[in-house]
Amino acid sequence: MSLEKWPKIDVKADRSYPVFLGVSLEELGEFLHLQFEDVEHILIISHQVVADVYLDRLQKGLLDYRVNQIIVPAGEQEKSLERISQLTRAALECETDRKTLVIALGGGVIGDLAGFFASVFMRGIRLIQVPTTLLAQVDSSVGGKVAVNHPLGKNIIGAFYPPLAVWTDFSTLDSLPWEEVENGLAESIKHALIADRSLFEFFENEEERIKEREKSIWSEMVVRSSAVKVNIVSQDEREQGVRALLNLGHSFGHALETEMNYRGVTHGQGVSIGIAAASHLANAKGLMTIAEVDRIKQLLNRFGLPIMIPGQDPRALLERMQADKKNQGGRKILILPKGIGQAVVSRECTDQEILAAWKQVIS
Ligand SMILES: NC(=O)c1ccc[n+]([C@@H]2O[C@H](COP(=O)([O-])OP(=O)(O)OC[C@H]3O[C@@H](n4cnc5c(N)ncnc54)[C@H](O)[C@@H]3O)[C@@H](O)[C@H]2O)c1
Repeated sequence: MSLEKWPKIDVKADRSYPVFLGVSLEELGEFLHLQFEDVEHILIISHQVVADVYLDRLQKGLLDYRVNQIIVPAGEQEKSLERISQLTRAALECETDRKTLVIALGGGVIGDLAGFFASVFMRGIRLIQVPTTLLAQVDSSVGGKVAVNHPLGKNIIGAFYPPLAVWTDFSTLDSLPWEEVENGLAESIKHALIADRSLFEFFENEEERIKEREKSIWSEMVVRSSAVKVNIVSQDEREQGVRALLNLGHSFGHALETEMNYRGVTHGQGVSIGIAAASHLANAKGLMTIAEVDRIKQLLNRFGLPIMIPGQDPRALLERMQADKKNQGGRKILILPKGIGQAVVSRECTDQEILAAWKQVIS
């Protein structure tokens, strides 16, 4: 038996780790046997919707281990210190110790929550990410960021805690509702925009087959989009430089999400409108033509992602951007696309310019 049979890309960082793409849940146990001889106890953290459909398949390969599951409710509110405290209690009750391996089976919420739990329980126990949403497969499971929220800020309590491996089974996406697919598409299109022009063209050319969920096209989409993230994180794991580019559309998007109190706009929709606003700003700064702005907006639109939002106050949104984590010394730091397939960090956008960009996406 060898590791060769499973397709993967490696994150090359302080501690490198494999991102397996296109493997099956049932085979994870075999990988663990090969790679980590001293594992005896496995703790799976998931939530009901995912566990109902995928837990049996995962457990089929784990028959040689002592396995416990902790099922938490779904939803962003679960990323809390209270839930970490409850997980700690539940983990101790099933005799979790320093040699236990945690499997995070779910979307970005489970990945962040179980990942943060693994990072602090007994000062850190082993972690495998098994992402089951498109967003988690192309984005959140890779890169080692784990976090919970605080009433004063999203993801404000967290760590860099890379997993031992990411185990991505594309078939888990079969059950994902389209609304959740859109959240992942927004991030995938963002990846294309900042680093891979041919991936952008792939989205333009394969719209129909993506919408029809054609398996080979979805596999290609996840592999190419994950590759962008793997590549960026390998260059800059701790976000000292190039990793910041992954925030394209997010400064605008977060401002919108917080202004709307996280109601009436999903994260993917916020990012999409944010990308449209950042593209207008890039045009004003001479970084892209208006034809390119239109092309980006058209692509987002073709996948059902919004590029305008009605009834918002641009000044209030500008004000919200004041609290962005990336700002330095009161100066707003924004990520702007540079044509299609590149992006830059800009420290020179005036409030006037940002306001003008907001006005372009408010109807
Ligand atoms: N750590 C990072 O680098 C990073 C990056 C981006 C986002 N995030 C975080 O990710 C979170 C969002 O993640 P998400 O979009 O995956 O949301 P999510 O984890 O809440 O999952 C969305 C919904 O899909 C359901 N679901 C999950 N897998 C399913 C499947 N295979 N079939 C059917 N339903 C399924 C879940 O039950 C949930 O209701 C946010 O908390 C965000 O902060 C983290």
